Amino acid sequence: MRDSHGRNINYLRISVTDRCNLRCIYCMPELGVESLKHTDILRFEEILKIVRISETLGINKIRYTGGEPLVMTDIDKLIYETSKLQGINDIAITTNGILLADMASDLKKAGLKRVNVSLDTLDPVKFKNITRLGNLDKVIESIDRCIIIGLKPVKINTVLMRGFNDTEFDDFLDLTREMPVEIRFIELMPIGEGIKIYDKSKLSFMEMLKNHPELIKIEDEKSSTAQLYKLPGAKGKIGFISPVSHKFCSDCNKIRLTSTGTIKPCLHSKEEINLRQYLNNEEMLTNALKQVIFNKPLEHHLEEEKISRSEKTMYQIGG
Ligand code: 5AD
Ligand code: SF4
Repeated sequence: MRDSHGRNINYLRISVTDRCNLRCIYCMPELGVESLKHTDILRFEEILKIVRISETLGINKIRYTGGEPLVMTDIDKLIYETSKLQGINDIAITTNGILLADMASDLKKAGLKRVNVSLDTLDPVKFKNITRLGNLDKVIESIDRCIIIGLKPVKINTVLMRGFNDTEFDDFLDLTREMPVEIRFIELMPIGEGIKIYDKSKLSFMEMLKNHPELIKIEDEKSSTAQLYKLPGAKGKIGFISPVSHKFCSDCNKIRLTSTGTIKPCLHSKEEINLRQYLNNEEMLTNALKQVIFNKPLEHHLEEEKISRSEKTMYQIGG
């Protein structure tokens, strides 16, 4: 379905839980957050119901996120049931990769098509510093496993931050020489915990591009969010996602469902509608979804306001 600005909204991102087994510095407070009660979180059947109605409105791509989606029990069943829906032709997850190595084959069998793995550093000590928990080897093992079993393309999300991992830019580039992965450098956003480090850590990718004239630009119609490049002869690619300095709102095709059942038409706007109240009435649920899609805001205001308007943060929305 099209929104009032003519954008075709065909992509639903679903945060299945706000829990996470890591505590990345730009996302979760060190001591974690109070867990939501199980009764506050959408059940598996409720998520599926919303997916089914979304499908009738033209959603054909689903991404399960979190928190960390792989800590949800039954995530494989959810993927399986989603994959049975005729209109859904792409099912992906965004995961921190800690639990993925052991689950990848089952998830693929269930119908998962692709994975995005978050990985901000290739240095085990820095990995501990940035994620505060977790083990780099596990993430690397997961990426290898996904490549071997053909969960393709494997995309790696790397939030590039001055003073944390900007010196590793070349190491990430080198990784693409032999590995068929797409490393997507994401600009730090001033939302949630990210606000606290935003001023000192933000980084513009123009700087990286200027210092790497060897990077070749790739035109890819499918990817409107990332600007893609590659090294000559490399097996993998790199992408720059610059939500703040080069916003891509005019091409945005997404809406987002949070684990508590609210639907957000834009990551950075305050607006959200609670769908829970309509779960027993398909007509009202359909109308609520139509309304959210139609009224999707034109754009965010991160660059001018230097802070997200969203009242929810990344682990609640799922990115
Ligand atoms: N700015 C940019 N990216 C973020 N992510 C989480 N918080 C932020 C932030 N403040 C990323 C994670 C994950 C993706 C879903 O969003 O690293 O890869
Ligand atoms: Fe967890 Fe992802 Fe947030 Fe890191 S960025 S704490 S892995 S939800």
